[in-house]
Amino acid sequence: MSLENDLLKLESDGLLRKLRPVNSTGPLISRGGNLLLNFSSNDYLGLANHPDLMKAAALASQKYGTGATASRLMSGDLEIHEELEAALAQICATPEALLFGSGFLANVGVLRSLVGRSDVIYADKLNHASLIDGMRLSEAKTERYRHCDMNHLEDLLKKPGIQGQKLIVSDSVFSMDGDIAPLRELRMLASHYNALLVIDEAHAVGIFGQGGGLCREWGLTADLLQGTLSKAFGSYGGFSACSKPMKQWLVNHARSFIYSTGLPAGVAAASLSGAHWIKQNPDAGSLLIKKAKNFRLKLVQSGFEIPDHGTQILPILIGDNHKTLEFSAALENQGLLATAIRPPTVPIGTSRIRLSICLSHSSEQLDQAAEILVRTAKSCGVLS
Ligand SMILES: Cc1ncc(COP(=O)(O)O)c(C=O)c1O
Repeated sequence: MSLENDLLKLESDGLLRKLRPVNSTGPLISRGGNLLLNFSSNDYLGLANHPDLMKAAALASQKYGTGATASRLMSGDLEIHEELEAALAQICATPEALLFGSGFLANVGVLRSLVGRSDVIYADKLNHASLIDGMRLSEAKTERYRHCDMNHLEDLLKKPGIQGQKLIVSDSVFSMDGDIAPLRELRMLASHYNALLVIDEAHAVGIFGQGGGLCREWGLTADLLQGTLSKAFGSYGGFSACSKPMKQWLVNHARSFIYSTGLPAGVAAASLSGAHWIKQNPDAGSLLIKKAKNFRLKLVQSGFEIPDHGTQILPILIGDNHKTLEFSAALENQGLLATAIRPPTVPIGTSRIRLSICLSHSSEQLDQAAEILVRTAKSCGVLS
């Protein structure tokens, strides 16, 4: 394999990814001296720049130092971790929660620890990469059902001859389409076919269900609710919200928990402060969704086709990789950051611009963004 040739091929296919630093976070950021309206951040509640979170991070770093210095099972089990876990369990309305280094590590660790070679995982085709990697690491047989297609899932569950543990796994809000999984049907099928149910609520916690996610909003219980602190919570880290025995199981079996250092205290303290903010602002999620709905409506009235899923993630499907890159670059020239999303993040032929709406976007910023999107789409031939 030649790295150079591979990279050239990626470039010619419009699939090369490049790092491009910005010098701040928030709704308005700057890159290379240019101010940009940021529509590519997952800081959905605008908490990453909240003074309470920043202060909590600074104070905890002063108290505990900057690193946890060891795995939780060695000397790295800081009191603030336990406090954060209790707050997360309360928000998610589950008996317990367990922190991981990130949402990615939580997903990989959980799937790898729950099932093995003689078991079967049933997974939505559009699940997040971390769930796919967790499935692969588990070595379980995998059955991927068509996106949100419960008939297909049931056909797979019904297949004769399955001996081991069954596990169904799905995102709740899908990260690149912003649509919502049929959670009630997933719960029913999991119960009927005696399968474990793992729901990744990375894009729903903090926003729906008073911060607990869509399972909480809809009164459903998953065996494991997977969350991240890196999006709506404005901080970093991941967690599994679950029963007490399940937490104990994970502490003893999840390799990405056991063999990895605990979260730094400053990060845990920022998350805890984010959790308090979310508890004290139970309407923030619905305000965000309202904001996203109005913004979508404005774009649709101008000719864009954006499905109405009722979430903060608004995809503008372009299809071709080069065309998507061109549109994204033109938007950036006009002062709007909306990153091109291309395969393998999304299926081939479905490259898109993914707009994520944050509570910190002001009405003026949303109006300005809509105006830039329409004007630029017309000049790039995305809109006629
Ligand atoms: C659905 C989903 N699950 C998990 C993750 C991983 O979370 P983290 O960024 O905390 O690793 C992401 C992040 O993009 C995600 O979109």
